Amino acid sequence: MTSQATPSSSDDALEARIVVLISGAGSNLQALIEATASSDFPGRIVAVGSNRPEATGLERADQAGIETFVLDHTGYSDRQSFDVDLLRKLEGYNPDLVILAGFMRILTPDFVRYFRGKLINVHPSLLPRYQGLKTHQRALDAGDSVHGASIHFVTEELDGGPVIAQAEVPVLENDTADTLGARVQAREHVLYPIIARWFCEGRIALGNDEVLFDGSPMPAILTLPADVYQ
Ligand code: GRF
Repeated sequence: MTSQATPSSSDDALEARIVVLISGAGSNLQALIEATASSDFPGRIVAVGSNRPEATGLERADQAGIETFVLDHTGYSDRQSFDVDLLRKLEGYNPDLVILAGFMRILTPDFVRYFRGKLINVHPSLLPRYQGLKTHQRALDAGDSVHGASIHFVTEELDGGPVIAQAEVPVLENDTADTLGARVQAREHVLYPIIARWFCEGRIALGNDEVLFDGSPMPAILTLPADVYQ
């Protein structure tokens, strides 16, 4: 999308085509649905896919009139064959951007390479801290005073691709993993649509191994001013 002129929702050809992959509740998906519904959003969600048929996020897509598909990973004997089918399915939508929004699958290197520079993820920690699962509890156990979420390009290293942006939250004295996680998610819901917008506008891209912003390597991970989250 980097060569794209200013897109407008009245011109489908210039709108970035977004596919969102989920596995569960889809609260980030909901934030993306609401953001992309705005007439000035330079992209649209053309499909929502899930590896779990029971993912409630699928209902959110249905309600918004967005096409959905399910590829149930339990029907596959290995990761490779699932990813081959997922890749084919996604190819059918010709996406400019594939957004992982609580998609709880480790993707194979071939899959990740195929979508290099078009695949972004939200991870509930301030990467590189706490790659993997149970991030809120791990932040609490470590006695961290600050926790948060990261949006990053997906590369072959799990939760290890170049970080585009982060949102921080303070860890409060009586926090549990649930209360802390809820505050982190509230930040994700604001940050993810903004990053998706900038990607669709061609402002954010993946360079060799770094994030480019307006064509230049970003000197630091993006953080947004606090008032954006109010
Ligand atoms: C998010 O908190 C995200 O950080 C993590 O999975 C969660 C998905 O939540 N990757 P939802 O399905 O968007 O509600």
